[in-house]
Amino acid sequence: MTSNIPTEAKEKVSFLTAALHRHNYLYYVENKPEISDTEFDVMLKELEALELQFPELADPNSPTKRVGGDITDKFEKVTHIYPMLSLSNSYSREDVTEWAERIAKSVGGEIEYVMELKYDGVAISLIYENGKFVRGITRGDGTVGEDVSANIRTIRSIPLHLKANHPDKFEIRGEIFLPRAVFLALNKERELAGEELYANPRNTAAGTLKQQDSKEVAKRKLDCYLYYVLGENLPARSHFESMEMAASWGFKVPSAAMRYIEKTNSIDGIMAFIAFWDKQRHALPFDIDGVVIKVNSFALWDELGMTAKSPRWAIAYKFKAETVKTKLLKITYQVGRTGAITPVANLEPIFLAGTTVKRASLHNADQIEKLDIRENDVVLVEKGGEIIPKVVGVEVSQREIFSTPHVYIQNCPECNTPLIRKEGEAQHYCPNEDGCPPQIKGRIEHFISRKAMNIEGLGSETVAGLFDKKLISKSADLFKLTYDQLIGLEFNVGDELSGEIKKRSLQEKSVRNLLAGLEAAKQVPFERVLFALGIRFVGETVAKKVAKALKSIDAISNASFDTLREIDEVGDKIAQSIIDYFSKEENRTIVRELQEAGIQMEMIGGVETTSDTLKGQTFVVSGVFQHFSRDSIKESIESHGGKVSGSISSKTSYVLAGDEMGPSKRKKAEDLGVKIISESEYLQMIQ
Ligand code: IVH
Repeated sequence: MTSNIPTEAKEKVSFLTAALHRHNYLYYVENKPEISDTEFDVMLKELEALELQFPELADPNSPTKRVGGDITDKFEKVTHIYPMLSLSNSYSREDVTEWAERIAKSVGGEIEYVMELKYDGVAISLIYENGKFVRGITRGDGTVGEDVSANIRTIRSIPLHLKANHPDKFEIRGEIFLPRAVFLALNKERELAGEELYANPRNTAAGTLKQQDSKEVAKRKLDCYLYYVLGENLPARSHFESMEMAASWGFKVPSAAMRYIEKTNSIDGIMAFIAFWDKQRHALPFDIDGVVIKVNSFALWDELGMTAKSPRWAIAYKFKAETVKTKLLKITYQVGRTGAITPVANLEPIFLAGTTVKRASLHNADQIEKLDIRENDVVLVEKGGEIIPKVVGVEVSQREIFSTPHVYIQNCPECNTPLIRKEGEAQHYCPNEDGCPPQIKGRIEHFISRKAMNIEGLGSETVAGLFDKKLISKSADLFKLTYDQLIGLEFNVGDELSGEIKKRSLQEKSVRNLLAGLEAAKQVPFERVLFALGIRFVGETVAKKVAKALKSIDAISNASFDTLREIDEVGDKIAQSIIDYFSKEENRTIVRELQEAGIQMEMIGGVETTSDTLKGQTFVVSGVFQHFSRDSIKESIESHGGKVSGSISSKTSYVLAGDEMGPSKRKKAEDLGVKIISESEYLQMIQ
């Protein structure tokens, strides 16, 4: 097979591969790009095309793998070569001194220490052989972890090909994390989509790393700092030196210039580093939960050895979660887009963990009752791993004599409808979906948001203004707005800092802009329209899958529970939610009016066909493939004129089987006499 590939193509692939790896490194590790994003994309597209044309040339470490695509059915369990231990903790100068004295007693002499940040993420072990990334394994139980290589390849700051002078074989460990800004942006999007918010960057990073669709992982912008090199006959003699070497091989290691890593000979030096970062940690773009102190010399590492749980040559110093006391002025309630009620503590403003806090979440009625939180209490507010501060306790001794327990509201603060609380759920809900203003406005805001219809010239303040003037009460009304209705329209703009509310009005230019934005929305592809409808639990990815599978709003609105369940990523909860949405007359009206306004309600174009080699053939795709993701192999079939179906029947022409195809599918194919073909047989068919 390989002999069919022109030398020219081979050379081009290796040239592009090397260039893209280098530019990736310059951008993500060095922060010093030499070419523009567009130039990078052009090269990447060229490499992608060549790899598609000559699948034999595709390398598992190709720069094209950075965007993901591989689907992992289940993560393979791998035994760690060196167990992944943890660190013992310390919380005070005394604890650190005690540790240092124990070491001095055991090995004697003056000891050099290295201090580093303790990244609050997920530990990972990366294995490299002959300068190439081989495998990335999670910690697991410390002895056996899971192979998450396809996901690791999407993390741009992890090199797939190393620069010169690296050992032939070694392991390097570090922490994968989600930068705080990425986490906040992600949650903002989830909020707009009415999805449950993630608790903190650490859990989100952990969840992301275990996602089965590496394309989704690629979008998350995970990052990684390395802090521990392991192997036989390493060229370094100390930890600090090993970090410098790792940097020269192309890894992102803690920067000494930024004081992310430092050396000292004294406890004072250690404590100074700790004090500096305890204060400064909020200015970092990622979360840390302490500092790690390590003995520098590798010879001493050998001498000190490990206990069953942790190395003796290192210790973690954990920061305390910052807590402050302040007065709880008032408990108010927020109504979300889905009608969920969140009680909010309005506080006397106080400085905490880098920001001024005025509000904190009280979660739900149970939490208020459990802590017996009352208005006018002095409360303890904490900012731990979570971004949103929380009230963690009450100073009962400082309570006013005539204070009474807080009574949770029974009616919606916005529309006065009696609240409901579903069996087993902690949250109260306002059931008045169609008449409760924040729910209506929230749905329209979601509809116009960037990832949904992306309507330019329209923001949440304008939506509120239009709603208050009764010009809109649902998304479809937007498309009936006229110039005359809009010009001069007054709306309020709140100033975050001063809390002041200012009046604005729409002028000529903004009106034209808004109308143009609405016109442009007619070009938005169906999959995003489906997402924009705001069906509960139908996020961006699910909307895409459902749109692709069923192709039109008519098909989706009439689909049975079972048909919906067959779609990738659609479980019982989502299927039921789609059915519920379309069973409501109001929603059917919105869809009809949007359709009448010219909004796309079906997939158009679809996959461009490049040949009709597979015309008349129906394929069922199952398992994991080497050269394709599951989506891309389906696209490939369609682009050659074939059809893809979700389940095997007597009408199926072929079952295209990758690795790990389920035994029940295989049996069904055999029973029905449907031919099973492999990925390479498929490639031959379309050649
Ligand atoms: S060294 C034998 N250095 O903290 C373990 N660990 O609580 C040697 N961590 O499992 C690890 N930042 O996941 C080391 N600069 C750092 C670290 C670090 C975060 C994590 C690591 C470890 C956990 C222990």
